[in-house]
Amino acid sequence: MMILRTAALATLAIASVAPAVEVAEFGKTPGGEMTHVYTLENKSGMKVKLLDLGATLMAAEVPDKEGKTADVLFGFDDPAKYLSDDNQYFGNVVGRYGNRIAKGKFTLDGKEYTLATNNPPNHLHGGGDRALSKVVWKGEKSDADNSVTFSYTSPDGEEGYPGELKAQVTYTLTDDNAVRIEYEATTDKPTVLNLTNHAYFNLSGAGSPTINDHVVTLYADHYTPVDDTLITTGEIAKVEGTALDFREPHAIGDRVDSFGDAEGAGYDHNFVLNKTPSDVEGLHKAATVKDPKSGRVLTVLTDQPGVQFYGGNFLKGQTGKDGKTYAHRSGFCLETQHYPDSPNKPDFPSVVLRPGETYTHTCVYAFSAE
Ligand code: BGC
Repeated sequence: MMILRTAALATLAIASVAPAVEVAEFGKTPGGEMTHVYTLENKSGMKVKLLDLGATLMAAEVPDKEGKTADVLFGFDDPAKYLSDDNQYFGNVVGRYGNRIAKGKFTLDGKEYTLATNNPPNHLHGGGDRALSKVVWKGEKSDADNSVTFSYTSPDGEEGYPGELKAQVTYTLTDDNAVRIEYEATTDKPTVLNLTNHAYFNLSGAGSPTINDHVVTLYADHYTPVDDTLITTGEIAKVEGTALDFREPHAIGDRVDSFGDAEGAGYDHNFVLNKTPSDVEGLHKAATVKDPKSGRVLTVLTDQPGVQFYGGNFLKGQTGKDGKTYAHRSGFCLETQHYPDSPNKPDFPSVVLRPGETYTHTCVYAFSAE
């Protein structure tokens, strides 16, 4: 009897503890650096994979309304693809400045800085080979927290940005199927910083042909209009009366054709968040996306002022994990962030980080099914 009770208790104890975080080699970069994948699992049947190259969120196996899991994130099977010219930043942490800086120039404390114009004529997502999405971060796992912290020190002047930047990103998989991303950074010289995650989702499963049926709510009355090179004009405009009005839920496909079919046309806009309270202290709601087919729901919470809603307009059938193909507009990103080109827009919330200050940013991708 006693033995039976002990055995039952032991089973209970095992059931209530998430499995340890697993670490495995993912292969070497073309430059010869070994990369690693971390696999996190929780008690609710969800699994997440993280990669030290680009501090990347590379897979999320999420249950649907029947409890059947599918990987809803885009990614690649080998490190070289993550470093290729057309990697599209799948799941990467991007920076130092996520999004665009006009003509790759900004002035801080009277000094002009020049960055790579890797998205001509502008700077995009931190630049070239030493952008934060292209370097191997140092990973450290915590079994107790079901988390991994990636750290990287970017030398003063790397990719043209001033200051030695010490950055870290912690990913935690919670037992209620949320991925919590916490960024922190300090600098030894005044600099600009805007980190975000560039995960692409298809809630029917990555590789499914469309997101047109996904129903989106964005908690934003305003957005930041852009010129034809996708640089913000400085204006904060109302979404009312435009195809960007997602205050009430709309399927992505309902109005996407109104942007035309020129290369890159479609949803690719920064929304000014209303700061609608959420049930997580300190975080407001950015977006809710529902996939009617699978019943999967993604809720995005953050403490940032904006979110870039990008509808995968530059996807063109890249081959990703397990040979899956990522068709034009078959994945979406919700990049919590400061507004594009803030270093050149004095009226936008500041992105300046000074010595002695700590940059922090939290984004939660919470999954459920209905
Ligand atoms: C930008 C797009 C860009 C894409 C690159 C997004 O964050 O808003 O304009 O093409 O990143 O993958």
